[in-house]
Amino acid sequence: MTEVLQIENVTKAYRRRGRETVTALRDVSMRLERGDLRYVYGPSGSGKSTLLLCAGGLLRPDRGVVTVAGRNPYALTSEARSQLRARHVGFVFQQFHLMPYLNILDNVLAPTLAGVNTVDPRPRAKELIERFGLGSRLDHPPSELSIGERQRVALARALLQQPQLLLADEPTGNLDDDNGRLVMDALREFAQAGGAVMVVTHDRGLRASDSFHLVDGVLTT
Ligand SMILES: Nc1ncnc2c1ncn2[C@@H]1O[C@H](COP(=O)(O)OP(=O)(O)OP(=O)(O)O)[C@@H](O)[C@H]1O
Ligand SMILES: [Mg+2]
Repeated sequence: MTEVLQIENVTKAYRRRGRETVTALRDVSMRLERGDLRYVYGPSGSGKSTLLLCAGGLLRPDRGVVTVAGRNPYALTSEARSQLRARHVGFVFQQFHLMPYLNILDNVLAPTLAGVNTVDPRPRAKELIERFGLGSRLDHPPSELSIGERQRVALARALLQQPQLLLADEPTGNLDDDNGRLVMDALREFAQAGGAVMVVTHDRGLRASDSFHLVDGVLTT
């Protein structure tokens, strides 16, 4: 099976009692296969982060079906859903969500602590951190890194898991051109090795011919 992610007619609104309902996704459908690197381009507030969360099994849509690695995360128990995410989905969050009390090596290794590792993940973790130019900072906590450096640590953490699906929220948002290229090369390589990547961004420079566009929760090609 080559299909890694399928999103069918997904609608998501944020509802809070006493507040106006915000519809963030409207009838969105897309699919990603192994080897795909696809961009979703859209302005701030268009629903990009919401789309990533719904795609990755972190935010239940109101309507529609999400299938990740052949399974609908929202049809599973929360435990099985966590397992599906841990095995198959890597996130690079817009706010990174690094752990403040761990140094960057331990942050990158953190997801591996939950599972049984057949090989020692540390050498590869170090390799990834070095690749992103942070080899001399292994024992620094995230608070001592620049925002762009934290972003690269978050990407190293996601890549170490070798997920089938990588979901990256503005992965070059805080980077200069050279580091942006470094990150995009790593994502491209990941896709070439058989992964599927969705990058959501408002960076026009990243737009490719087969990008999706998201405007006001509506996805078009
Ligand atoms: N928890 C929430 N409660 C209410 N509204 C929300 C919530 N999260 C997001 N929204 C609204 O949903 C819409 C889509 O938000 P989302 O974060 O998906 O946009 P985005 O495209 O990622 O924006 P940005 O480029 O600024 O990160 C926005 O109008 C936002 O205000
Ligand atoms: Mg966002």
